[in-house]
Amino acid sequence: MASAQPHAKLNLSRRTQPSVQSGERMKILLRRAAIRKRVLAVAREITRDFRGERVHLIGVLKGACIFLSDLIREINLETSIDFMAVASYGKRKESSGQVRLNKDLDSSIAGLNVILVEDILDTGLTLSYLCRILRQRRPKSLKIAALLDKPSRRIKNICADYVGFTIPNEFVVGYGLDYGERYRNLKDICVIEAPRE
Ligand code: IMP
Ligand code: MG
Repeated sequence: MASAQPHAKLNLSRRTQPSVQSGERMKILLRRAAIRKRVLAVAREITRDFRGERVHLIGVLKGACIFLSDLIREINLETSIDFMAVASYGKRKESSGQVRLNKDLDSSIAGLNVILVEDILDTGLTLSYLCRILRQRRPKSLKIAALLDKPSRRIKNICADYVGFTIPNEFVVGYGLDYGERYRNLKDICVIEAPRE
C-alpha cells in the first residue's frame, strides 16, 4: 500500500495579477512551472510503484481532465484511461453534501491497478463515495492521485496516495478547476480575490 508521499511546500509569496477573463483579480497560488515539476514527480512515483504492471487511470470529470492528461504522458508504463462524472457542487463553492454519479465507467475494472485521478481532495465526500463504488468492482488495487489536498476541510476519513500540493483553505481555480464552469483554462492555479456571487 503506497502511502502519501512528501509533497512540495507552498511558496507563500503570491503575486496578484489581473484576470484576462472577467476583470476579477486573481492571486497566483501555484505557478505553471511548479505544477509541471510536481506532476512529473507524481508520475515518477507511479512509474516506480507499478514497475512492470499496467495502470488504469480513472479521471473524475471535469476538473481532473488537465491533470490527468499531463500526468499520463509522464507515466512510463502500460496505461489505459476511463472517466467518471459526479455532481456535488453545482455552481456554488460549498459542497451540497450529496454526490451523484452522472457518468459511469465504460468498462470493467476487475483485476486492474486503478488510480483514481482527482483535481482536489476537499471534504472527501466525492472520493469516499467513488472509492466505495469502485472497491465493489474488485480492482487488483485502488489508489488515489489528487493534484491538490485541502486537509483542513476534510469531513470523511480519506487521504490520497499521491498528492501534488497541500494547500490552505482557499477556493482555487485554474488547471482544470472551475468556479461556475469558468477559469478551467488558466495555466496557473489561482485564488479569486473577490469573486462575484
Ligand atoms: P469534495 O467532495 O468536497 O472532496 O470535493 C471535491 C470536488 O469539489 C472537487 O473535485 C472539485 O470539483 C470541487 N472543489 C473543491 N474545492 C474546490 C476549489 O477550491 N476549487 C474548485 N473546485 C473545488
Ligand atoms: Mg472535480
